[in-house]
Amino acid sequence: MREQWTRSGFLLAGIGSAAGLGNIWRFSYVAGENGGAAFLIIYLLAVIFIGLPLVIAELAIGSKGRNDAVATLRHEAPTGHWYIAGGLSVVGAFFILGFYSVIAGWALKYFVGAADGSLWAPQQLNAYHAYFEGFIARPFEPLGWQLLMLTLTTAVVAGGIRHGIEAANRLLMPLLCLIVIGLAAYSLSLDGAEKGLDFLFTPDWSAFTRPAVYMAAIGQAFFSLGIGMAIFLTYGSYLDPKQSITKSASIIVLGDSLLAITAGLAIFPAVFAFGIDPAQGPELAFITLPGLFSQIPGGRLIGTLFFGLLAGAALTSMFSILEVPSAYLARRLSCSRRKATLLAASLSFIAGIPPALGFGVFEQVTIGGQNLLDSYDDAVSHLLLPTGGILIALFTGWGWGKRRALEAAGLDNSKLGELWLLCLQYIGPLVILTIFIAL
Ligand code: TRP
Repeated sequence: MREQWTRSGFLLAGIGSAAGLGNIWRFSYVAGENGGAAFLIIYLLAVIFIGLPLVIAELAIGSKGRNDAVATLRHEAPTGHWYIAGGLSVVGAFFILGFYSVIAGWALKYFVGAADGSLWAPQQLNAYHAYFEGFIARPFEPLGWQLLMLTLTTAVVAGGIRHGIEAANRLLMPLLCLIVIGLAAYSLSLDGAEKGLDFLFTPDWSAFTRPAVYMAAIGQAFFSLGIGMAIFLTYGSYLDPKQSITKSASIIVLGDSLLAITAGLAIFPAVFAFGIDPAQGPELAFITLPGLFSQIPGGRLIGTLFFGLLAGAALTSMFSILEVPSAYLARRLSCSRRKATLLAASLSFIAGIPPALGFGVFEQVTIGGQNLLDSYDDAVSHLLLPTGGILIALFTGWGWGKRRALEAAGLDNSKLGELWLLCLQYIGPLVILTIFIAL
C-alpha cells in the first residue's frame, strides 16, 4: 500500500516545497534586477495562467498514477513517449538539487555564523563583500555546508512521507511563516521604508517592453512554484484520493506567492531605507543584507532569524526535489526508500560540485560569461523547467484525453475546467515558446 499524506500535511509539504530560496534569495534579486513592480505583475499573471494550471495538472496525473514520474507517465500514456518528461525530471533533479544545495549551504553557514557571532566579526557595512568572496572561493568549506544540508535532507526524506517529510514540514513551516511576517513588520517600521514599497508596487512601465523581463518573470514563476520537474506529480502520488486537487493547488500557489511578497516586504523596505541599490544580483542576500544587519539595532537577532528562515525554507524545498529521483530509484532498483534516497542525494552532491567550486577552483570556467552556479540556475530556470512544463501541459491538454484529464483533476466539464484546459493546451505552451524564440 502506497503511503499517504494527511490533508493538512500535504498542504504544508506542498507550500514547503514551493516556498524556498526561490521566494527569498532569488525573488528579491530577480525583482531587483528587473524593475520591481512591472516584474511582479508579469510574475503574478504567469503564476495564475501558467503556474496554477500546471500544479493542478501535475497533481492530477500523480494522484491518478500513484507511482514515480516515469512509471506514471508510461502507464497513463502507453503509446506516446511522454515518459521522457518523467526521465527529464529525474535527471534534472540531480542538477537542481546540486546547485540548490550549494546556496542552501551558504544560508546554513550564515545562520550558524549569525547565531554564534562569527558573522558579525567584520563589523562594517562594506566588509561583507570580502567576507562572502573569501568564503565561496575556499574549496572545502562551501562543500562541507552543502553536504550538511544534503545530509539533513536525506535523513528526513528517508523517514518516509508521513514520518519524514510531513513531520519535518509540520515543525518548520509555522516557524518560517512567523519569522517572515516578523521580519516584514520590522522592515516596514524603518524610516524610509516607503521607497521600498514604491519599488515593489509602482511599476516602471518601460520594463514591460523588455522581453528579458518576461523571461525572468516566467522563469521565476516556474522556479518559485517548483513546476515542470514532476515534483507535484510525485507528491501527488501520495495524495488522499478524497482531497480536492484544485483547492489544494490553489492554496499552495497562494501560499507560495504570499510568502514571496512577504519576503519582498522584509527585504526591499530595509534595502531602500539604507539607500542601497536593489539590483545587486545573487549577492543581495549574502553581501548587502549582512552588512545592513550589522548596522541596525537588534540586527544580530534579525540576521539570525533571516538566515534561519533562508536555510529552513531551503530545506523544506530540498525534500521535494530529492523525493522525485528517490521514488524513481526505489522502484527501478527495487530497493528500500533509505537506499534510494542515499543514492539520489549522493548523485546530487556530485552534480553540485562544479557550481560549488565555481568561485574558487573552477573560477576560470565560465559559460557565456557566467560562473558555473549562475549557468546552472539559468539552464534550470530558463530551459529545463519551462521545457518540462511545456511537456506536462501538452500531455495533459492533448495527450491524455480531455475527459480523463478533467476527471482526474476533479473539474468535470465546467467553465473552470475549460479554462484550465485552454491554459494547458494553448496559453502556457505558446507563451513559453514565444519567449524562447524572442530571446
Ligand atoms: N520552489 C522552490 C523555491 O522556490 C525550489 C524548488 C522546489 C524547485 N522544487 C523545485 C525548483 C523543482 C525547481 C524545480 O526555492
